Amino acid sequence: MQIPGQTVPEAPDRLRVAVVGTGNIARFHVEALQSMPDDAALTAAADVDPDNLAVFTDRYGIPQRFGDMDRMLREVQPDLVHLCTPPGMHHGQVKACLAAGASALVEKPPALSLAEVEEMADAEGAQGPWFATLFQHRFGSGARRVRALADAGELGRPLVAVCHTHWFRDQAYFDVPWRGRWDTEGGGPTMGHGIHQMDLLLALLGDWTEVSATARRQARSMETEDVSIGHISFANGAVATVVNSVLSPREESYIRIDFERATVELRHLYGYGDDNWTITPAPGFEEQVNAAWEAGESGTNSGHSAQIAHVVSALRAKEPPPVTSADSLRTMRLVAGIYASAAQHRTIIPGELRRGTRFYERMHGGGSPW
Ligand SMILES: NC(=O)c1ccc[n+]([C@@H]2O[C@H](COP(=O)([O-])OP(=O)(O)OC[C@H]3O[C@@H](n4cnc5c(N)ncnc54)[C@H](O)[C@@H]3O)[C@@H](O)[C@H]2O)c1
Repeated sequence: MQIPGQTVPEAPDRLRVAVVGTGNIARFHVEALQSMPDDAALTAAADVDPDNLAVFTDRYGIPQRFGDMDRMLREVQPDLVHLCTPPGMHHGQVKACLAAGASALVEKPPALSLAEVEEMADAEGAQGPWFATLFQHRFGSGARRVRALADAGELGRPLVAVCHTHWFRDQAYFDVPWRGRWDTEGGGPTMGHGIHQMDLLLALLGDWTEVSATARRQARSMETEDVSIGHISFANGAVATVVNSVLSPREESYIRIDFERATVELRHLYGYGDDNWTITPAPGFEEQVNAAWEAGESGTNSGHSAQIAHVVSALRAKEPPPVTSADSLRTMRLVAGIYASAAQHRTIIPGELRRGTRFYERMHGGGSPW
């Protein structure tokens, strides 16, 4: 939707880029941007914490620094803003960027609720500016290869899948003020950790049609869940189990999809290369499946650099950058579906999570679900 009175910026040759939030994750954004100097010029950074801002801008030689994002938007007029702030800031900051004519690449989770993400999508212009969510696992060549083979029919129908995020975060991790709270993080490992793998699962399997889930707080002192599990059905007929845990001493991120003609597996922790993927053809399909696998895309690790290259190139071509608002909404709807199902002990379909309903407005549905 075009905002009345807003002018759509021309994408110049080199994008003018700014970073907001100069904490832990921002360096991955800046290092990616600095590896593409012909495409993007990193001109400014903003943070409310002057010490973080000073250390960060000195380290990366960023010329303009601001304590206030709105002032930066007015003075710098960037084409693209990377939002590396805590989740509770994302909704307001994305809307401010879009209103100023800048596209935004926002760290996951894109906001605290479906309501907020839909508002952000409504504030996009048909020809930009747009927002994209940083979900880096879609962009490694392994994921792109599986997607291409599945789309080309080389693997047959997807039948059954597993999507496990078994991570470990101790109590000190959740003692950071914004973590593990509904009003600042929007959820626990479903929203903050397993969301990466669930986003990748959706990128590979498409639209989901129902979910039933359980969530618990088993071991950490925090407001939200520390583990959730779910069963998901997909429009293409596949079914999947999901685990989102921050309680698992042997950490692993695992996705397995059994297609008719092959099992595809990904084992990694926080990012993967081609070697983290394996394929096991079904009897009788060895030659065809192995040949297609060998011929597929290769050579790109998952990570911020891989996605940021796609985002910059899309914006230079005046196209919506990935992961688009529609894709972000689908993933966030699944997160909301897991919370709604766990809190109400029943199966949820995506159409129930609509404007005005409890779990659309807030991930915990407005109460204290467990
Ligand atoms: N994609 C990934 O793999 C990944 C990994 C870790 C974290 N993240 C996400 O990145 C985001 C940031 O996480 P982090 O660990 O870097 O947090 P952090 O607390 O280390 O850094 C956040 C920074 O934002 C600044 N900030 C807070 N409010 C601000 C405001 N209003 N204006 C400007 N700056 C403000 C803080 O001062 C701080 O410097 C979160 O959404 C988190 O979920 C993503």
